[in-house]
Amino acid sequence: MRVFGHVLARPSEIAVGCANGRVNLIGDHVDYAGGLVLPRATRETTTVAIAMAADGSDHFTSEWVGELVDALESDVAGDASWERYARGVLIELRARGIMVPPMALAVVSDVPVGAGLSSSAALEIAVARAALALVGMELTPADLALLAQRAEHLHAGVPCGIMDQWCVAHANPCAAQHDAMLLDCAQRTHELIALPMNLRIEVLDSGIRHALRDGGYAARRQDVFDAAARLARPVEELARASDAEIASLPAQLSRRARHVVTEVARVRAAVHALRNNDLAGFGALLQASHASLRDDFDVSTPEVDRIVEMALARGALGARMTGGGFGGCVVVAWKLDGRE
Ligand code: GLA
Repeated sequence: MRVFGHVLARPSEIAVGCANGRVNLIGDHVDYAGGLVLPRATRETTTVAIAMAADGSDHFTSEWVGELVDALESDVAGDASWERYARGVLIELRARGIMVPPMALAVVSDVPVGAGLSSSAALEIAVARAALALVGMELTPADLALLAQRAEHLHAGVPCGIMDQWCVAHANPCAAQHDAMLLDCAQRTHELIALPMNLRIEVLDSGIRHALRDGGYAARRQDVFDAAARLARPVEELARASDAEIASLPAQLSRRARHVVTEVARVRAAVHALRNNDLAGFGALLQASHASLRDDFDVSTPEVDRIVEMALARGALGARMTGGGFGGCVVVAWKLDGRE
């Protein structure tokens, strides 16, 4: 990490913020349609150190600066994408009337970038926590999540749903991450769901990197909104569409709508299965979710499909892509047999 000695005001004016990544167990590409999702915070975290800058402007650096910055899509005048997320949060805090002074900000993280584990929300929430700590203020986790989502929409250009920011803003990076979070994205309410002791969740990285700003994410989201508009339903009501309504849509929109309807039903069923220790049922739902994201939503890749198949061949209960897709990670569920 680069040191900001040359711009620091006084060494005492320093604060640190930390935030988890998240892995979504089931319920992808439904949060922006007001659906149900079941993420869990990861052990991996992003930490931001922040200090008042004496020269009146914001400065950003990270362990990614250098060879990794190209891979992170440095598209506007050297403005690497991670910096847009961080800057966006500072802009939104100031727009809210929180007097965040000019600052120097440095990031370290073990949340993999572009892997579907919410490196963006981890960065946004860590920046916000550090900046708020510096000025001695607090926001509720809900307000923090909404502010971070707004920063991502307006300053990073990603029309994301609320799942990532909500999950990350409500997680405690100092605590072990046992429970999953059942989040109703329309109501913005959640409850914690305990995972059975004999269920092991593993996350495998395909190594294929996406950038959600590439357009595939926004295009899928637009399809979902178009499908709802054609059915004259608010998008939050799309998950209640009937088979006949889905069949009445043009082929591509029909597949997108079918994914939303069936995925929300699968999240509900997955929670039921977890509560009843039905691990086989839970695994089957992960499988069905992956098939839907691959075949109806077109967001998987051959590499990710291959990892899913290999995990199943090795006896996993179920496996699926997780997050926005186009590469990234696979979440795998295993049954512990008591010997592990
Ligand atoms: C990204 C977005 C989320 C969500 C997922 C897909 O992680 O940030 O809002 O849409 O993709 O479930």
